[in-house]
Amino acid sequence: MSTRILVIHGPNLNLLGTREPGIYGKTTLKQINLELKKIAKNRKVILVIKQSNHEGEIVDFITKTKLKYQGLLINPAAYTHTSVAIRDAISASNIPAVEVHLSNIYSREDFRHTSLISPVAKGTVLGFGVKSYFLGLEALIDLISK
Ligand code: DQA
Repeated sequence: MSTRILVIHGPNLNLLGTREPGIYGKTTLKQINLELKKIAKNRKVILVIKQSNHEGEIVDFITKTKLKYQGLLINPAAYTHTSVAIRDAISASNIPAVEVHLSNIYSREDFRHTSLISPVAKGTVLGFGVKSYFLGLEALIDLISK
């Protein structure tokens, strides 16, 4: 059976390209997803990609990972700093998760300095712009194939 990975982009990431380009860059979500698919193809894994602005919907996506996926790549966006529900869903899913952020959340406002997700992630990649996603996906695939 081929390895399947779920990618979740959290709230407002649908706006990438035009959203605060000084912080998040000019690359659109579509372009990021195309590149992620390329990496997945090279590494012979199947990617399913979702974006949602709704916390409960993200919880539902994660809850369904158990049966269908071997790994989760997630940019929880603003929910990183607030969502016990998403953290608990990752914990309960028992599948390896890698957290990614475009920006370095620790060099920004104080309220971004806490990630509720990092303690339940296998690892976190942040601060490298869109490259955080690509490095995160490669690391997750390495982890799963071990
Ligand atoms: C983000 C950082 C978060 O603090 C912010 O709310 C986002 C994007 C990032 O990728 O840098 O929406 O997760």
